[in-house]
Parts: sequence; structure tokens; C-alpha cells
Amino acid sequence: MFKVFVAHPIPKSGLQMLSGLQVDVNDQPGPLAKTDMISRAKDAHAIISFLSDKIDKEVLAACPNLKIISNYAVGVDNVDLSAAAERGVIVTNTPDVLTEAVAEHTIALMLAAGRRVVEADRFMRAGRYKMWEADLFLGKQFKGSVLGILGCGRIGTRVAEIASLGFGMEIIYYDARRNPEIEKHLGAKFVDQADLVGQADVLSIHVPLTESTRHLVDAAKFSQMKPDAILVNTSRGSIIDEAALVEALRNKTIAAAGLDVFENEPNMAPGLAELDNVVVTPHIASATVTARDDMARLAAQAVLDVAAGRTPAHVIAK
Ligand code: DGY
Repeated sequence: MFKVFVAHPIPKSGLQMLSGLQVDVNDQPGPLAKTDMISRAKDAHAIISFLSDKIDKEVLAACPNLKIISNYAVGVDNVDLSAAAERGVIVTNTPDVLTEAVAEHTIALMLAAGRRVVEADRFMRAGRYKMWEADLFLGKQFKGSVLGILGCGRIGTRVAEIASLGFGMEIIYYDARRNPEIEKHLGAKFVDQADLVGQADVLSIHVPLTESTRHLVDAAKFSQMKPDAILVNTSRGSIIDEAALVEALRNKTIAAAGLDVFENEPNMAPGLAELDNVVVTPHIASATVTARDDMARLAAQAVLDVAAGRTPAHVIAK
């Protein structure tokens, strides 16, 4: 019987699809220690993993029957892809179905940080609103502002569309590859990284985390940004040097940030939580009922495909 270890509960929409296989779901709350992952998954043919599960050489070596790691996320930086490929283990992810959710949350963070929504909410709740004032919580107007997209794949493209068509923002972008579609449809301009950070009123990060993108946005980049710029990150925390970001926000090198992801999740860098000019959410950009149900279906379908000897739709490494 094909054995599946589901490292954390996923929506029923996916679990029900696996009813014909031998499924073991870890329903203990909290992160799963590597030793527990190994003891539960050692006989498994498939693992459905979360981005918090580090699937490294040691885990792979301890699970000799493994045929597929079906990662319940679009990002796969938690999996050692080359070690998986060496062992012939397929790695899949859940792209497309979460694009809309993540793009919408990116816009939510941009608006919240730029219009100081959370700061103003705290002010109201503390009973500090005494009278209407001309300069109370002044923020950024987005129409005509420049949105810089760092990484223009599916999610970056959708953020650019919403910002351009919905808010009338100008779009500039940097990616390893040109994106002719958004150049044609949105008038987006391809620029180098220095121009991207230097010209953006809002800089939004959508590159995957790899060795070459780790700390891509660092103190040097912050010093090139406009002092009223806003940084938004819904990709992976380690793309930003978070200690340098704390300094940049504290010293007003940049105006504000909206962050859904952090370098050492679930923790934030020391000092970040004390700053008023940052809006933080707990890695929930894809957290819509629709996206999470669809992610569960995709993750389960990949396992079913491998169990039936088919190649799944979204193979990252093989
Ligand atoms: C992903 O899919 O990589 C997100 O970070 C979580 O949905």
C-alpha cells in the first residue's frame, strides 16, 4: 500500500482525495522536529510537507521508500532539491492557485503601510483621537506612484496588474527574464536593480529564496531607496537583511514596510515589533479559503499521480 505522511493538517478537500492510500496525518500543533519527521515518515512513499519542514539530506536518507515530496506551498526553499534529485525523489509545489490570494495580500500590506492603517487603528483604540487635523496620519497616495516589482513571475505580474489597472501606478520591474506581457499590457519598464530600488515609491519582493537571492535587499539597497519609499515582502523573509531593515525603518532611511514573511519565522528581528512604521502579518498571504483548499487539492493530486505512476503537473525537481 502506498504510504503518505502528511506533516501537518491540510484542508479536507485534499485529505479526502487520499482516502484510497494509507495516510498518517500529524495533528500535533506546532513545528515538527526533524527526529519526529523521520520517525513518522521513515516508511512513507510520499510526504506532504509545509514550508516550515526542513527536508534535507538527513531526512531524505532516513526515508528510503520516498518517491515524492509534495510541498504545500509554492516556495520550495525548505527542501534540498539537489539531494532529492540525487535520490530520484520528485518534489512538487502548489503554484497558480495562490497567486490571487498572495497578490491581494501584497496590496493590503502596501495600503496598510502607506496609509498607516494599523498605526491609526491603535491610536483610535487608545482614545487618542481628539479632533480632525490637517496632518493627522498623512500617508502616501498611490495613483501615479512608481511600483517596483523585484521578481516578475506569476505573483509579481498579478500585483503589477492590480496596482496599474486598479490604482494607476506606474510599473517598473527587475527579473532575470524580461516579461514582454506586462511591458505590452501595462507599459511596465524593465530596469536594472539599482534603478529599481532608486526609482520605486513602493518596492515589492516576489523572487523565490535561493542562495543568490538571500539578503538581496540589504543595507546598501536601503541607502539607495527614496526616504518616503515603502517596502513590501510576501515572498520569503531571508531575501531581506532584516537587521538592516530594522535600522532603515528606525532611522527613516525608508518610510515604512509591510511584511508577511520573516528571516527566522516565527520570530521577528529584535526591534522590529517596537517600530510604528511597519505592518506585520504571520505569513498569511495565501490564507484564503479558496487558495488553501486548492493548494490541498494540488498537493494531494501530485501524490495520487505518483502513486499511479504518472508524472504530476508541478514538478520542481526530479
Ligand atoms: C508559499 O506558498 O510559498 C507561501 O509562502 C505560503 O502559501
